Amino acid sequence: MKKRIGVLLSGRGSNFEAIAENVAAGHIPNAEIAIVISNREGAPGIERARARGIETRVIPSKGLEREVYDRQVVAVLREKQVDLVCLAGFMRLLSPYFVAAFPQHILNIHPSLLPSFPGLEAQRQALEHGVKWSGCSVHFVDENLDAGPIIVQTPVEVLDTDTPETLAARILKEEHRIYTEAVRIVFGGRFRIEGRRVVGV
Ligand code: GRF
Repeated sequence: MKKRIGVLLSGRGSNFEAIAENVAAGHIPNAEIAIVISNREGAPGIERARARGIETRVIPSKGLEREVYDRQVVAVLREKQVDLVCLAGFMRLLSPYFVAAFPQHILNIHPSLLPSFPGLEAQRQALEHGVKWSGCSVHFVDENLDAGPIIVQTPVEVLDTDTPETLAARILKEEHRIYTEAVRIVFGGRFRIEGRRVVGV
C-alpha cells in the first residue's frame, strides 16, 4: 500500500505543490497525498490542491483552544489513514496531543538554518542580524516552535543587495527541493534519532 501524506497549510502552498509534483513525478516512490488541510478559509494552497484533484478540508481554527482544534485535525488525518504529516506554512504550534498522535512522523519546513531565526519573518531576521549565510531546514516537529531534530538543511548565501523578498525567493527554491528529500529520508527509514541528531544507518 502507498504511504499516505497529509499536508497542513495556512497560505500560499508552494511547498505543498512542490511535494505534490515530486510525488506525481515518482520522486517520492510509492507515496500519495491523501489530504490537504487548512486552518484558514481561502488559503491559496487549498485551491492549488483542488486544481490537482487532491482531497481538501478547511478546518477553521479561530477561537478554538489548541487541543480542541488539534483533535479535529488528528481525527481527519486518522480517517484518511495518513502515515506522515507535512506542515507546509501551517501557522500554528501543535499541542502535545497532536505530536503524540504521530510520533516522529510530523515534519516542518522553516526558512532559516535552525536554530537561528525561528518564528515569523525568518528571512528579515537573518538580514537584520547581518548573517552572510541563511538557508532552510526540514525538521521533526515537537511542541516547541521550529524545534525538533533536523533532517535536512541547506545553506543560501545572503547578498549585499538582498531584501527580505529576494532572499526569501532564493531560499524558497531550496525549500522546494529539500522538503522532498526529507520525506524520502523518513519514508526510507534508514536513519535513527540519537538525542537531537538524525543520523544515517
Ligand atoms: C515557507 O517559507 C516555509 O518555510 C514557511 O512558510 C512558508 C510557506 O510557503 N514555514 P508556502 O505556503 O509553502 O508557499
